[in-house]
Amino acid sequence: MERKGFFVCVEGLDGCGKTTQAKRLVAKLKESYDAFYTAEPSQGPIGEFIRKCYLHAPKRGSTVVEALLFAADRIEHLESEVIPALNAGKLVISDRYLYSSLAYQGAAGLDLNWIERINEHAIRPDLAVFIDVEPETVVCRLKAKKSVMENLETQRSVREVYMKFVEKGDLVRIDGNVSEAKVAERILAVVIEFLEKAC
Ligand SMILES: Nc1ncnc2c1ncn2[C@@H]1O[C@H](COP(=O)(O)OP(=O)(O)OP(=O)(O)O)[C@@H](O)[C@H]1O
Ligand SMILES: [Mg+2]
Repeated sequence: MERKGFFVCVEGLDGCGKTTQAKRLVAKLKESYDAFYTAEPSQGPIGEFIRKCYLHAPKRGSTVVEALLFAADRIEHLESEVIPALNAGKLVISDRYLYSSLAYQGAAGLDLNWIERINEHAIRPDLAVFIDVEPETVVCRLKAKKSVMENLETQRSVREVYMKFVEKGDLVRIDGNVSEAKVAERILAVVIEFLEKAC
C-alpha cells in the first residue's frame, strides 16, 4: 500500500530532550495535521523485554543480542503501529528510531554496516532530526536522574556516530544547548519546511 503520511524521527543522546520535544512537536502539529506520537523501544512485548533486561539493568548483556532485539522491536513496531498510521495518512513522530541503533550499538563497537543490514527491512524516515546537546550537559542531567547511562565517554562516542550521519545528510542537526522553547521553535521550523516542500 502507498504511504500517504510522513514519518519523522527525533534522535539524540540520553537526556537531550527527545521526549520533551517530540511531545511538544506533536501537540503543536495537531493544530494542522493528524500527528501521532510514538517511541522506541515500543510498548510491544519485545520493547518491554528490552526495557526490563537492557535499559534499566545495571549490568547490560551482549551488545549483539541488544542490536538484534532493537531491530526486531523496530519491525514489530513498524508493522503494528507506524505503517498502519502512515497508510492512514498520519504524521508519525517517533521518539528514537534507526539512528539510535547505529549510534549506541555502533559506539559499543559493532560494525555500522552490520547494524544497517539487520535493519534493512525497517523503512527510512522521511525526516530525521538530531537534537545536539553537549555530552557534559546530558551527563549532568542523567546524574540528577541517577541513570545507568551517565558515562561521559560513552556519550561522546555516541555523539560521534550521530555526527557521522549529520555529515552524510541523513540527520538534520538542531542545536539543543538552548532553552526548551528555543529548541521546540527550531524543530518546528525544520518540520514545517519539510512538510511544505513535501505536500
Ligand atoms: N533545552 C533544555 N534545557 C534544559 N533542560 C532540558 C531541555 N530539554 C529537556 N530538558 C530536561 O532534561 C531532562 C531530560 O529530558 P527528556 O526526558 O525529554 O530527554 P530524553 O532525550 O527523552 O531522555 P531519555 O533519552 O532518557 O529518554 C528533563 O528533565 C527535561 O526537563
Ligand atoms: Mg525520553
